[in-house]
Amino acid sequence: MKKKSYVVVGGSSGIGWSLLQQLSAAGAQVYHYSRSASLPAHIAGVKHHPYDVCSDLFPTETLPEQIDGLVYCPGTIKLVPFSRLTANDFNKDYTLNLLGAVAAIQACLKPMRKTKTGVSIVLFSSVAAQTGMPFHALTASSKAAVEGLTRSLAAELAPGIRVNAVAPSLTDTPLAAGLLADEQKRKAAADRHPLKRIGTPTTFLRR
Ligand SMILES: NC(=O)c1ccc[n+]([C@@H]2O[C@H](COP(=O)([O-])OP(=O)(O)OC[C@H]3O[C@@H](n4cnc5c(N)ncnc54)[C@H](OP(=O)(O)O)[C@@H]3O)[C@@H](O)[C@H]2O)c1
Repeated sequence: MKKKSYVVVGGSSGIGWSLLQQLSAAGAQVYHYSRSASLPAHIAGVKHHPYDVCSDLFPTETLPEQIDGLVYCPGTIKLVPFSRLTANDFNKDYTLNLLGAVAAIQACLKPMRKTKTGVSIVLFSSVAAQTGMPFHALTASSKAAVEGLTRSLAAELAPGIRVNAVAPSLTDTPLAAGLLADEQKRKAAADRHPLKRIGTPTTFLRR
């Protein structure tokens, strides 16, 4: 049987890193993109390409002819009082969360359409897009844009390509390190959730 081909942007740490390992274990061929020169460790079936979504054109020449799925992971948690935020902060956040996803989807559309059935795009939102929380203006507005893109493309690309967004709450990754820096913060974060724990990349993706 032909190996499935996936494109993952932002899998060098956190949730994306866990995803790379799970795709590798499932025997997939993965085309990975992030700023790092290389991945933290070799993973069978994963080919890494250095790429900065905020400054580079997507290297379409590195993509395979057919793609079964695309996952776009880069995102931010920059908690700042609204009065201190600048237009530049909003531009940078929107570029990383939304425009990077747009560029990746547009680059992958043709090879995804060649696959014809069962193709899936997964984007990342945040609970902050739907739940009002202080100091989340940046993340909440960029991720709300991601959710808008998700709904619109889900309608436009159906039935051949499914489009979904995952909206994690606090998950134990390098991105959230500052919010989970000591036991007191971890316990307070866990207590804010009905399950009384914070998420981890592995439990998050395993089904
Ligand atoms: N962790 C949480 O608590 C939490 C909560 C809500 C939502 N989320 C969302 O979930 C998603 C995954 O989060 P995570 O915690 O796994 O994040 P993470 O550990 O910070 O991983 C982010 C990944 O994106 C890549 N990346 C960042 N900037 C990039 C750029 N300019 N160009 C290319 N790649 C870039 C990073 O790789 P390089 O450094 O190699 O570029 C890394 O692989 C994000 O969209 C985040 O907003 C996370």
